[in-house]
Amino acid sequence: MAHPTPPPDLAAARAALSRARSIAVLTGAGISAESGVPTFRDALTGLWSRFRPEDLATPEAFSADPATVWSWYADRRARVASVQPNAGHHALVAMERAAHARGAAFTLVTQNVDGLHQAAGSGTVIELHGNLRRVKCFDRHHPAVTWDERETPPRCTQCASLLRPDVVWFGEALPQAALDAACAAAGAAQVFLSIGTSTLVEPAASLPFAALQAGACVIEVNPAPTPLTAHATWVLAGPAAAIMPVLAAP
Ligand code: OAD
Repeated sequence: MAHPTPPPDLAAARAALSRARSIAVLTGAGISAESGVPTFRDALTGLWSRFRPEDLATPEAFSADPATVWSWYADRRARVASVQPNAGHHALVAMERAAHARGAAFTLVTQNVDGLHQAAGSGTVIELHGNLRRVKCFDRHHPAVTWDERETPPRCTQCASLLRPDVVWFGEALPQAALDAACAAAGAAQVFLSIGTSTLVEPAASLPFAALQAGACVIEVNPAPTPLTAHATWVLAGPAAAIMPVLAAP
């Protein structure tokens, strides 16, 4: 039986990726959706349905009610520890290895804090918003490796300040080195791949536009339209776990 002809955007996107000397990728919560991690703007479920993320993911919320914020992240940490990377994450690992094998540059930038790209085997992951699997203290950012989960929150063993997740909260600055590396990769990319992000939150949302400005082809993988859709070179509308393996196939 003849294989169905891939839609023109998919064929063109595959060809561009196979030729690219430099590839940059930006992922958002959508790439983890099929691993069972709710996207950021999904309604908070269950115990947390009465909160808005914007009301919990801030330094002010933590200072006002550290126990609630710590517990929300402890729940999320437990959830991401119990899920697996999906075919979308694994396809990016294959794409990275194929790029390196032909001497091409490949930079993966993520807004996600779930650590699933690393769990899938991605080499270098630029984490714009931190990683909720890591914990540090609120006052001095001392990293914490172990802590007593019975305390909500535990305290830093070096300075006794409260422990918090090592993520970027609303109103906090992104790690400058990560942001600089992401901007450099977007400016140098011949192909920029934007996967599973609503393209709403700055400064990450500007990265695909910076790549376009610098002359890159931009591929968007998302089942729903975003502010990038009208500007992307190719739009692959669908779930990342279905599209990415086809895009990354040799
Ligand atoms: P959002 O929840 O804003 O958007 C998720 C995107 O994924 C949407 O565009 C969905 O259409 C898409 N999507 C859903 N299922 C998908 C699937 N199976 N495959 C591909 N795409 C799918 O999440 P982000 O764009 O990541 O920042 O949000 C960006 C930032 O907003 C987060 O990092 C967080 C939040 O403020 C901080 O916490 C600092």
